[in-house]
Amino acid sequence: MKIRIFDRICAMTSGIYSILDKVIKLHSLNEDDILRLLKTEENNNLFSAADKVRKEHVGDEVHLRALIEFSNYCKQNCLYCGLRRDNPKITRYRLEPQEIINLAKKAADYGYKTIVLQSGEDLYYTVDKISKIISEIKNFDVAVALSIGEKSFEEYKAYRRAGTDRYLLRIETTDEALYNKLNPSMSLQNRMICLENIKKLGYEVGSGIMVGLPGQTLESIAKDILYFKSIPVDMAGIGPFIYHPDTPIKKTEENFFELALKVMAILRLLMPDINIPATTAMETLNLNGRLIALQCGANVVMPNATETAYRKHYEIYPGKICIGDSPKHCRFCIENKIKSINRCVGENRGYHRSNS
Ligand code: SAM
Ligand code: SF4
Ligand code: FES
Repeated sequence: MKIRIFDRICAMTSGIYSILDKVIKLHSLNEDDILRLLKTEENNNLFSAADKVRKEHVGDEVHLRALIEFSNYCKQNCLYCGLRRDNPKITRYRLEPQEIINLAKKAADYGYKTIVLQSGEDLYYTVDKISKIISEIKNFDVAVALSIGEKSFEEYKAYRRAGTDRYLLRIETTDEALYNKLNPSMSLQNRMICLENIKKLGYEVGSGIMVGLPGQTLESIAKDILYFKSIPVDMAGIGPFIYHPDTPIKKTEENFFELALKVMAILRLLMPDINIPATTAMETLNLNGRLIALQCGANVVMPNATETAYRKHYEIYPGKICIGDSPKHCRFCIENKIKSINRCVGENRGYHRSNS
């Protein structure tokens, strides 16, 4: 009996090794193989393979993207998010265009080469307002990324014309029934059309998912990973889902940090030269989450560059890191952390290699 169990363990382990071996050589896997990696308990082998591939393909540089959270108003009602329209407990704020430009200038002066503007879907910012903000920020010799949700083709076109380099729009999950349930005023189909339009317009495409959404299966996560490969994305952010008490989602104590890390590592193996952030949500669930992620396949960090006073109100989920810190503090804190693992801060804009 003992021998049989031993044989089974050997077969399972060698199965994982053969999958890792295949993906390191071919950067391709079918859904079943991805599922086996998601289910494996040999996490360390998966993580070190992803770290090796990261080093070979994108090197030791960590690209910093300054994140400016400029408005927490949102017309959407995503069930999981603290910024959702029907959350009455949140204190809403929005920055005036000049304040956003000033913050971006400050971030550029701190050495950031990319500015990310993120918000809820806030109708206050007309196409004209956002376009003007972008063209002003482009004077600071930086790349600009937008993360402001679903827009029409014409709006995406205007922002691209104004100089935006990248657009970040997570697909969240490719499970259609789950997506439509969690995003009552939205549809998976439209989200996919938005990503197609972003691609068509020549942006660098950033997408991603949350890991641990209620009702999400490993099978659907395997499909999400293949979806990123099919686009193909230039960047993908994988964040653990974190329960927010002021949302309709049922309370969970489960911590999805490790599973999110595995998804991220598999993505690195399949898409060796894309940009993959060590996400803020990972550090919210693990004190060293971003440094761990940087050693399991990630090569980007998005430090908060919003003024301290606003940070606590951009409460997508509770316990967010850096709430009481300043843009300057975060900029140098992250650089020191990066150096502590013998990595360095990227000196250029960190475009996805195929576009640079
Ligand atoms: N409104 C834009 C959008 O949805 O694309 C950008 C801002 S939104 C707050 C940014 C990301 O936050 C979403 O894409 C989602 O993945 C993430 N998010 C929302 N609620 C979350 C939660 N409870 N836990 C972890 N991440 C969450
Ligand atoms: Fe709005 Fe984005 Fe939050 Fe959905 S995830 S409620 S679109 S801010
Ligand atoms: Fe904000 Fe360290 S990155 S305090």
